[in-house]
Amino acid sequence: MPYSQAFGDHFYSQADGRLECDHVFLAGNNLPQRWQTAKTFRIGELGFGTGLNLCETWRQWKLLRTADSHLDVVSFELFPMQGQELERALAHWPQIEAERTALVAAWPEAPAGRVHFVLDAQTTLTVVCGPALQGVETAQQEFDAWFLDGFSPAKNPEMWSPELMRAVFEKTVPGGTFSTYAAAGFVRRNLIAAGFVVERAPGFAGKREMLRGLRPAADLIESSAVPA
Ligand SMILES: C[S@@+](CC[C@H](N)C(=O)[O-])C[C@H]1O[C@@H](n2cnc3c(N)ncnc32)[C@H](O)[C@@H]1O
Repeated sequence: MPYSQAFGDHFYSQADGRLECDHVFLAGNNLPQRWQTAKTFRIGELGFGTGLNLCETWRQWKLLRTADSHLDVVSFELFPMQGQELERALAHWPQIEAERTALVAAWPEAPAGRVHFVLDAQTTLTVVCGPALQGVETAQQEFDAWFLDGFSPAKNPEMWSPELMRAVFEKTVPGGTFSTYAAAGFVRRNLIAAGFVVERAPGFAGKREMLRGLRPAADLIESSAVPA
């Protein structure tokens, strides 16, 4: 069970991180349904960590994607782990053995800058090493869905700051979504202030709440600004 001494927190739910990913990030962003009609789909992630979300997302994408569709995952990570650390963490789940083996085999010895992986003919991954705020602000693309997965807001407040939530909003397509296991009041307020429509949803494994939300379509924002 990987644990960060620096942040004093676990990398994912102690109940089952893979099932948490399914509940919070995949179902939370409605991805199985959205993938049925997507031609190109972009996911942004704050915090690559062990790559568990990537492996579970890739596994489900392979089962659900349509012909000729393409998934790009871009993950922002300040402290990239070593390949053997990824291997040790991910070996817990036989369900993602194929994805773990491929990721670890391609993982560089000293990840730095932008590390790009062609995972298969319909899937790419880019890990942007460095502070998430800088990475998101300078990202060249907009995203259909975000996985907000910093350490707990109390222990890792810069991953939930007003500036970073604004940058995430700016890099979300109209109609795009986010989800997170976090439910802290200041996170919710920062997301609303950034422009997202935010709702509370039942959390994973007995957690009362998590947050999910939407960047409203541009015409909705504009029409609400037109005086009656
Ligand atoms: C909860 S873990 C992410 C778990 C991960 N998604 C997984 O599937 O294993 C949070 C991650 O955020 C990273 N992190 C913390 N502060 C950061 C920052 N300011 N910028 C970028 N990454 C940061 C940590 O190094 C850690 O890997």
